[in-house]
Amino acid sequence: MRILITGANGFLGHYLVPVLLDKGYDVLATGKGACRLQLVSQATFRYTEMDFTDRTAVAVVTDGFKPDVIIHAGAMSKPDECETNQEAALLINTTATGSLLQEAAKHRSFFIFISTDFVFDGNSGMYREEDIPAPVNYYGETKWLAEKKVEQYPFPRAIVRTVLVYGQPLAGRSNILSIVKEKLEAGEIYKVVDDQLRTPTFVGDLANAIAMIAAKKATGTWHISGKDVMTPYEMACSAADYLHLDKTRLLRVTADTFSQPARRPARTGFIIDKAVRELGYNPVSFEEGLKKTFRN
Ligand SMILES: NC(=O)c1ccc[n+]([C@@H]2O[C@H](COP(=O)([O-])OP(=O)(O)OC[C@H]3O[C@@H](n4cnc5c(N)ncnc54)[C@H](OP(=O)(O)O)[C@@H]3O)[C@@H](O)[C@H]2O)c1
Repeated sequence: MRILITGANGFLGHYLVPVLLDKGYDVLATGKGACRLQLVSQATFRYTEMDFTDRTAVAVVTDGFKPDVIIHAGAMSKPDECETNQEAALLINTTATGSLLQEAAKHRSFFIFISTDFVFDGNSGMYREEDIPAPVNYYGETKWLAEKKVEQYPFPRAIVRTVLVYGQPLAGRSNILSIVKEKLEAGEIYKVVDDQLRTPTFVGDLANAIAMIAAKKATGTWHISGKDVMTPYEMACSAADYLHLDKTRLLRVTADTFSQPARRPARTGFIIDKAVRELGYNPVSFEEGLKKTFRN
């Protein structure tokens, strides 16, 4: 099976590409600019530069590879960046998804779109797949608009929504867990919000779930996240405990402490029963995810 991935240089891409290669698929990883994945030792690994906002480039790459499956993981994924640069966010997250779909249709590829809990307003989480999106920021808006384009795709397709993905960060990048480690090891105070609920997702679980959806050509919308419902403050405390660091330096604050350009939905955890029942999805606990994140 030939699988093309967009945004392969990103956080998810770094974990998803090896999972698919290990399963023996013919994988074409694509990304903006040069390859930043460290997989050169894998004989079957292939990378092609493809800016997916460039329709001609997308046509050349997809016509050459004729993918059975396209996993569209690339995005402008930072909510604040989307809020302050709305034109680019709409182009990258929505318009380009539309052109990718048109190119995918030429090959009748199974199209998997990676989406987000931020399509919901966070007023009545936890959310099931059939709940109605109502984004509260522009990132969520562009992803929701893209989902609607995916729904119009005339061939099999899946929308995979996920929540606050964590794991060992890429070089030069950070996430809430790496920041906790860095700040507390330096003896600094770290303010963390305690009035938002999430079901944080271990990146390896998300990669495996996407691989299952590709293998089964499992159509429809899928909520893929962890099973523990936590606030970011609780996540930070668990990480501090696990690393034997002083959690009294974690300051419990409310979201209105920060003046971020993009509003965050308050409660967005996912109900993952459908994926557990129909895919055999079995995510790790947050405790286990911490071990996997910090094991090196
Ligand atoms: N991480 C989370 O907590 C989370 C939560 C919910 C949903 N998601 C969704 O999951 C997916 C993967 O997220 P992620 O964490 O892996 O994000 P990420 O690390 O920001 O990766 C996104 C990738 O897309 C690439 N990209 C952006 N514009 C592109 C273009 N025009 N052409 C080609 N590549 C382009 C970026 O390239 P550069 O690296 O060169 O900038 C980046 O490598 C996204 O769809 C995101 O919306 C993520």
